[in-house]
Amino acid sequence: MSNTNPIGLFDSGVGGTSIWKEVHALLPNESTIYLADSKNAPYGQKTQEEIIALSKKNTEFLLNQNCKLIIVACNTATTNAIKVLRNSYDIPFIGIEPAIKPAALHSKTQKIGILATQGTLNSELFHQTVALYSDVKVVEQIGYELVQLIENGEMYSKKMTQLLEDYLHPMVAQDIDYLVLGCTHYPYLIPQIKKIIPHHIKIIDSGEAVAKQTKHILEINNLFNTSKDVKQIFYINQAPQVMQELIGDKFRVAYKDF
Ligand code: DGL
Repeated sequence: MSNTNPIGLFDSGVGGTSIWKEVHALLPNESTIYLADSKNAPYGQKTQEEIIALSKKNTEFLLNQNCKLIIVACNTATTNAIKVLRNSYDIPFIGIEPAIKPAALHSKTQKIGILATQGTLNSELFHQTVALYSDVKVVEQIGYELVQLIENGEMYSKKMTQLLEDYLHPMVAQDIDYLVLGCTHYPYLIPQIKKIIPHHIKIIDSGEAVAKQTKHILEINNLFNTSKDVKQIFYINQAPQVMQELIGDKFRVAYKDF
């Protein structure tokens, strides 16, 4: 494996760009290829078999582009498929799981909230993590429709505000002091979430931790890029507009049928 090869990232759609931003900020000298499988979003409502099949398809696309490491920039794909991916392909994988641990360790009320997809909250990996903190009450809420609204460019719609209020008010009423965002689409909703929940509730996601872990894995495998030729490539299998707005003008998002 050549260290000049890119890092691959994939998500069910545009949300994993929140992870890409953290990775690029920490590792600006690395080339990346980001795959948004928006055509098949949301993954959160699919069966585990379907999520595994889509995760394999995305992985194989990235392997064909010679990626040296793959970040599964999707909680749903990580919690349902990463074990199979690690067993099937000979390349380092970094996954994203809801940040239950820091929230549980720091909570003063011993009550934390988690907003995530149905696929993540129903996964065995998630249940195993929650079981480690049995003294903490974990208030779970499925974020029905949030991913679709973001994918459709309706992030600032009335519908979004209504859904966020419906999901968050009952969690606040249960006295949570941490809100874990367990889906890579949700960090884009933080400004809106902050308008709904009280200031003392801390919001955490896993983006920074994933970037640090990526750096660590590159380091121990001697995979840091040594070439000056650095490229950031973005592919989406639906209209690129929403993703283009999320990543800004500096990089171009291309349509690709994968
Ligand atoms: N970004 C994905 C995640 O982190 C969204 C899953 C979905 O498509 O439902 O879970």
